[in-house]
Amino acid sequence: MKSLDTPLLKDGVFYVGVKDWNRRLFDALIPLPQGTTYNAYLIKGTEKTALIDTVNPGFEAELESKINNVSSVNQIDYIIMNHAEPDHAGAIPYLLTKNDKAKLVCTKIGAKTAQTYFKVPEERILIVKDNDTLELGNKTLKFIEAPMLHWPETIFTYLVQEKILFTCDFFGLHTAYGLYDEEVAELSIFAQRYFGEIMMPFRGYGLRAIDKIENIEIEMIAPSHGPIHKNPTKILDCYSKWTRGETQQKVIVVYVSMWKSTENMVNQIVEVLLQKGVQVSLHNLVNADLGDIAKDLVDSSAIVFGTPTVLFKMHPLATYAAHLVKVLKPPMKYGVVLTSYGWSKGALAHANEVLGPTGLEVVGAMEVLGPPTESDLEKVRVIGEELADKVKQNYAAK
Ligand SMILES: Cc1cc2nc3c(=O)[nH]c(=O)nc-3n(C[C@H](O)[C@H](O)[C@H](O)COP(=O)(O)O)c2cc1C
Ligand SMILES: [Fe+2]
Ligand SMILES: [Fe+2]
Repeated sequence: MKSLDTPLLKDGVFYVGVKDWNRRLFDALIPLPQGTTYNAYLIKGTEKTALIDTVNPGFEAELESKINNVSSVNQIDYIIMNHAEPDHAGAIPYLLTKNDKAKLVCTKIGAKTAQTYFKVPEERILIVKDNDTLELGNKTLKFIEAPMLHWPETIFTYLVQEKILFTCDFFGLHTAYGLYDEEVAELSIFAQRYFGEIMMPFRGYGLRAIDKIENIEIEMIAPSHGPIHKNPTKILDCYSKWTRGETQQKVIVVYVSMWKSTENMVNQIVEVLLQKGVQVSLHNLVNADLGDIAKDLVDSSAIVFGTPTVLFKMHPLATYAAHLVKVLKPPMKYGVVLTSYGWSKGALAHANEVLGPTGLEVVGAMEVLGPPTESDLEKVRVIGEELADKVKQNYAAK
């Protein structure tokens, strides 16, 4: 059920975001098993009113009615754009039409992006930079540049008196359940999933942003997807590990197989890894959830990649997955590639071509003719043992 109330988070700070229970895909790519939210926040100072972020196109009226419960769209003086992606900035054109005085507050890069995507005229934009402040009377907003999380224009906004940090996508997660962190089951799993999909390729920027906010007193983290973190330590601890690339004694196995040749090799290596006490997360690409793969890439130390040869290349599903593994830039160190072919080979060379630039240390690579023989499976077991040892050594070394 959609709620049209407007919860008060702290003195003068209201939640005016919306829930999108029915959204099942993000960025035309990522499954959303629990929908998502587009969080927006209204801050009423004694002199001025600011709106932090907006909502996805299609939810403008809902946003407006929530604002109107406690104020009025006409009363907004500033619309703070922490991020220009349309799920948060998509209602800006609507609000600027309904209110002819409000200024859009963003960085220089943000201004360009807002012009590109939303045709916001220059005279409606107020450009801010790192450490700038904006007075709302009894409340002060401070801006913290946090670029590439996950677009170039991203910033955080800090509400000084209430000690709330508004971080947009950073520290966010896709679920429509709950308003606060304590109401969400599996919070860290959903956060890890989100981190893997969206933030992992920009881990270095994430680290820098975390350094920047280290000395700020934070009582609440208010992101723009999922619950508000009343207990910021939990999500901060997770992000500290994930941005540093801290991995577990864990191997992610990603594979596809048409006639079980590859699958038999995969099963063999999984068995060895489990016997050696290494955690395994197994994903058959036929029905894998991309969000789950992204989540497991965040903290795995190694990957086992399995694919047959199809038309001289990797199977198309494996091609897709290998590309994603490469661009998501997971922190893992080791890789094993298990392939099968019928007459010409090709999958292994293709896997090397795509995954080579990741710099993974290849612990084993096999290209087997048809179904694996007993001797092939023995080789797989040896590779599995070596991989388990490497993963455990790597873990012990920390
Ligand atoms: C549609 C299709 C295309 C294939 N293309 C090739 C190919 O280009 N080169 C090759 O060596 N084998 C090719 N094969 C054979 C498979 O790679 C071979 O049967 C392999 O053992 C299948 O492994 P799997 O049981 O893990 O699916 C193809 C098989 C199919 C069904
Ligand atoms: Fe985004
Ligand atoms: Fe977003």
